[in-house]
Amino acid sequence: MKLIFKNIKQLIQVREETLKPLKGSEMKELPLIDNAWLLVEDGKIADFGKMSQIPTFEGVAEVDASGKFLLPGWIDSHTHLVYAGNREQEFIDRINGLTYEEIAEKGGGIVNSAKKLQETSEDDLYVQSAKRLEEVMKMGTTAIEIKSGYGLTTEAELKMLKVIRKLRDNYDLPVKATFLGAHAIPPEYKNDKEGYLNLLINEMMPKIAGEGLAEYVDIFCEKGYFSVEDTHRVLEAGKKNGLTPKIHVNQFNAIGGIKAAVEHNALSVDHLEVMQPEDLEVLKNSDTMPVALPSCSLFLSIPYTPARDIIDAGLPLALATDYNPGSTPNGNMNLVISLACIKMKMNPEEAINAATINAAYAMGILDTHGSITKGKAANLILTDAIPSYGFLPYSFGANHINSVYVNGKKI
Ligand code: NIG
Ligand code: FE
Repeated sequence: MKLIFKNIKQLIQVREETLKPLKGSEMKELPLIDNAWLLVEDGKIADFGKMSQIPTFEGVAEVDASGKFLLPGWIDSHTHLVYAGNREQEFIDRINGLTYEEIAEKGGGIVNSAKKLQETSEDDLYVQSAKRLEEVMKMGTTAIEIKSGYGLTTEAELKMLKVIRKLRDNYDLPVKATFLGAHAIPPEYKNDKEGYLNLLINEMMPKIAGEGLAEYVDIFCEKGYFSVEDTHRVLEAGKKNGLTPKIHVNQFNAIGGIKAAVEHNALSVDHLEVMQPEDLEVLKNSDTMPVALPSCSLFLSIPYTPARDIIDAGLPLALATDYNPGSTPNGNMNLVISLACIKMKMNPEEAINAATINAAYAMGILDTHGSITKGKAANLILTDAIPSYGFLPYSFGANHINSVYVNGKKI
């Protein structure tokens, strides 16, 4: 199967190779070709170039992209898209003055979602989750990471991970699964965190790893949830089971979790709304990707990740949605990119790099996704006819995505 895009106003994020993520000032560079063509063959990017030098192709399906931009699809490296029901009541409670922490202390929050999920059948959970996945794909997401962590029992964590596996089997985009059993302490273990960690490490992890249900391990390292010491324990056990760390850290408090994550060679550290100078120093000598989740900051009215401090320190940065029922009931990467520009003072080039190349790194798929590179998957966004690519973040809240392709197939 061949498909050719012609008269592309700008072909964005063109790279000969992408061996490493983009750091510091490299993030401002967004290589492109004006007035371009791109050929897809067997689901991959086969070739591309300038219209002035287009070879003759016969019998190939054509898309006229006049006035439109073609770019790699968004990569969402941090979501909790598999969940049951919603938490609208907590949204109202926060409007009326309660904080996210206060709601959690009252038995709301993550354990509220866990209760709902435990009561939901695997089939129903799949139907709810597939609907969300289709919705975000239409908005340009062409690779996604999904976490467990709303189960909090062995049975319910396995149920979540099986739903993630079924999504991976039934949809064409890359889907990566992360085991986040250490998301919150379940009520049954309220006064026995050790007991829960023992269950997680000795029972859940070997089962999950044994069935190949996850590739990554995550923990919510935060006051009132899991400590730095717990983080060491869980990440160490994860690694023994072949799971690579990717953690929730520095959302409300900086308690030293970034250092712990880096010591375990975490692929990414996510949230980072609260950063200390020493956190930046620790990241400088690492291969760990910082990931910002600005729509979580918007929804909870908490600080935004200090993107300028991170990038200006010479570090890389990725962007993701955090799509989940409590802190971010929204999986729109376009909004994330707008918020990164508006609230975190990232330039459009930096935001696009953060949502493609660096996001691919944070998901472990940089060798196959995240840029317009020969041989990579033809996971693409074709925009409407718009004045510039910067118009995407500028026109926040609007949808300028004309069509989305996964492995060269229009979805
Ligand atoms: O990434 N911070 C921890 N976990 C999720 C939110 C969980 C929830 O409120 O349901 C997050 O924001
Ligand atoms: Fe999260």
